[in-house]
Amino acid sequence: MHKGLAIYPGSFDPPTNGHLDLIERGAKIFEELVVAILRNSEKSPMFSVAERLEMLRELTAHLRNVRIDTFDGLTVEYAKSIEGTCILRGIRAISDYEYELQMALMNRKLEPTLETVFMMPADKYSYVSSRLVREVAQAGGPVKGLVPEIVEEKLREKLDPAYKLRDVRSVEFAEPIGGSELDRRERKRKKKA
Ligand code: PNS
Repeated sequence: MHKGLAIYPGSFDPPTNGHLDLIERGAKIFEELVVAILRNSEKSPMFSVAERLEMLRELTAHLRNVRIDTFDGLTVEYAKSIEGTCILRGIRAISDYEYELQMALMNRKLEPTLETVFMMPADKYSYVSSRLVREVAQAGGPVKGLVPEIVEEKLREKLDPAYKLRDVRSVEFAEPIGGSELDRRERKRKKKA
């Protein structure tokens, strides 16, 4: 068993500055840190596993003792398969604690030799989550400072067609309810035909 090998499991959809902050902190205290992306975590993730893998690899390229991997099934099974001894998780606020405690205790029940270590990201990221980043970006809001620049760019690329669609829709909604007089006549004509 590799004493200094920790696993940081998660969905990372997308990776945020909070994740990166935690990875950098983890890399300082563990000999080796494996950031492990769970495959099939959600039915319809925003980013494919391959995209998340690529982003995380680029974002951690400067950290020599960090590598990125993907896994399926139980975190503890994956951790054992790579001879890890620790699971690293971030806790931002009290609201994270209950879920994280449950998960840590379940993982301990499944594999008593594996310890969970909690670390706190910088307080400026204490409200940042992938879910909120997705929500803000999907609604066209700014995510600058919440995610690394390459993630911001990927979000923009991904959401560009949605923005265009939104513009078309806002024009549609500008029409009076029930459409214009011309639309009404056209609908009547089609109904008769
Ligand atoms: O980033 P997330 O979505 O909070 O990460 C959650 C994750 C991937 C750590 C968790 O869902 C997980 O460990 N899933 C693998 C399945 C598993 O081992 N379940 C039992 C742990 S309670």
